[in-house]
Amino acid sequence: MKKEFSDCYDLVVYQIYPRSFKDSNGDGIGDINGILSKLDYLKDLGVNAIWLCPIFKSPQCDNGYDISDYRDIDPIYGTMADFDRLLTVAHEKGIKVIMDFVANHTSSEHEWFRRARSSKSDPYHDYYYWADKPLNDWRSEFGGSAWEYNEPTGEYYLHCFAVGQPDVNWNNPKVREEFKSIVDFWVKKGVDGFRCDVLDHISKDFEKGLRRNGPHLHEYIREVFGRDHLLNLYTVGEAETTEESILATCGQDRRELKSVFQFSHLMVGRKGRYTPVPCRMDEVKDILEGWERFTEERDLLYVLLTDNHDRPWFLSRTGNDRELRYECATCVATMVYLLRGVPFIYEGQEIGCANSHFDDLTAFNDVECLGYYEENKDKESEEKLLAEINFGSRDNSRRPFAWDGSPNHGFTTAAAPWLPYASRSDEINLEADLASEKSIWRYYRDLLALRRERVAFRQGSCRQLQPSKKDCYVYLREYEGERFLVVCNFEREQRFTGLPEGRLLLSNLKRRAGANGVYAPYECAVYDLTNR
Ligand code: BGC
Repeated sequence: MKKEFSDCYDLVVYQIYPRSFKDSNGDGIGDINGILSKLDYLKDLGVNAIWLCPIFKSPQCDNGYDISDYRDIDPIYGTMADFDRLLTVAHEKGIKVIMDFVANHTSSEHEWFRRARSSKSDPYHDYYYWADKPLNDWRSEFGGSAWEYNEPTGEYYLHCFAVGQPDVNWNNPKVREEFKSIVDFWVKKGVDGFRCDVLDHISKDFEKGLRRNGPHLHEYIREVFGRDHLLNLYTVGEAETTEESILATCGQDRRELKSVFQFSHLMVGRKGRYTPVPCRMDEVKDILEGWERFTEERDLLYVLLTDNHDRPWFLSRTGNDRELRYECATCVATMVYLLRGVPFIYEGQEIGCANSHFDDLTAFNDVECLGYYEENKDKESEEKLLAEINFGSRDNSRRPFAWDGSPNHGFTTAAAPWLPYASRSDEINLEADLASEKSIWRYYRDLLALRRERVAFRQGSCRQLQPSKKDCYVYLREYEGERFLVVCNFEREQRFTGLPEGRLLLSNLKRRAGANGVYAPYECAVYDLTNR
């Protein structure tokens, strides 16, 4: 594997949802100086890169994924000077900074769009997609038609997401130049990588009805990221995840992206966004193992994750966020983060955050779930819709981080945060976690230390062992004579026999389950088999 790819295995990325991480100025909204004040916290956890969800100037109709100025910081988060300081201090502490790159759409408040919509002859008009009448019946991801009428030109514009997020026309070479120069602006400042939002949407084919994965996708990605001075950046795309498209996007000779997120295992336990179905950990395991094999055999980087700002908590989907919260959170982390790939931890995972329950829609802010409510309120009962939204809303994982058990949870000094705290924040907060014998945070720290200290977990091969059990994931990591065994048991107590014997390195129940071979539900352990 080329060095610029294999180096990525050393990364441990922590995703920050800036609004909800830490507020430094008492306005109830997290900000850059808040993040700065928590860099040591992240370092102690064992993180060496942070990905910041968008902090650029934005009217915030989709919490920053609607950008009105790509070269400026939104005042709710601070100033460019604050960002520069964050970047410098993060680098001093050995933490890389990855920015969100939102290129499929701008805000409708962006100068390009303001001008584009003003007249057909404006030079910016062709920066967006226009039609005299809707070209198709596409729906916006957030509800309603994907075409919006624009009075001044008498045309419709395309918005695959909110009305305030018009899709940009990447077929226009000027648009591509603009985005190249935006990337260069941030690279010049010293940022280390980009997470590329809905990147597969940047090429469309209206005739074939493709709103993503159009014919020029790879050409456009290469045009931006394949430039020589960018080859050392870490890039991760949100894009289609078929085997074919992953190979096309992440192959080492493609000069496109280093990696692409795989979300298929995160659909286990739900149908669509809002309907729960039983969550089978075996199914999750099989999907992970499938991608692990696929990526290892083709020398591709895999991305290891269970959570992000677009989904309710994985832990809650497993049904184990009460009695077995510690066991399940630590077992899942072990299973996922010792695989071969790049770990992404979403803020709050390290303290075992779980879904909330609210009886009132005013406790929600997410444009997606509110759009879902609007579309369905005349068809479904209020009760059903609220239950669905409590289960599936992205707000579950967007609620302010609870640093402690005080009324404002150490997040802000404001009377109320921008979005109500998670309903279990009195129970699930960092302070309570650290005070507990069963600290998820300390387990994460030890797990990440293991990954950092033993090269086999980063660079080694990964091979599943079949211990003739169902409901478990057992694998070997090997590198130049070092060998480690990872055993993750799922729902049921099970006796494991015939596993290789080794020295216990880590166990969430702090015991050698192997003594009589019986593993409790969600017990996991890591053994050193080197020289055995
Ligand atoms: C982001 C979402 C956002 C959408 C539109 C995504 O995939 O992660 O949070 O709403 O793109 O930008």
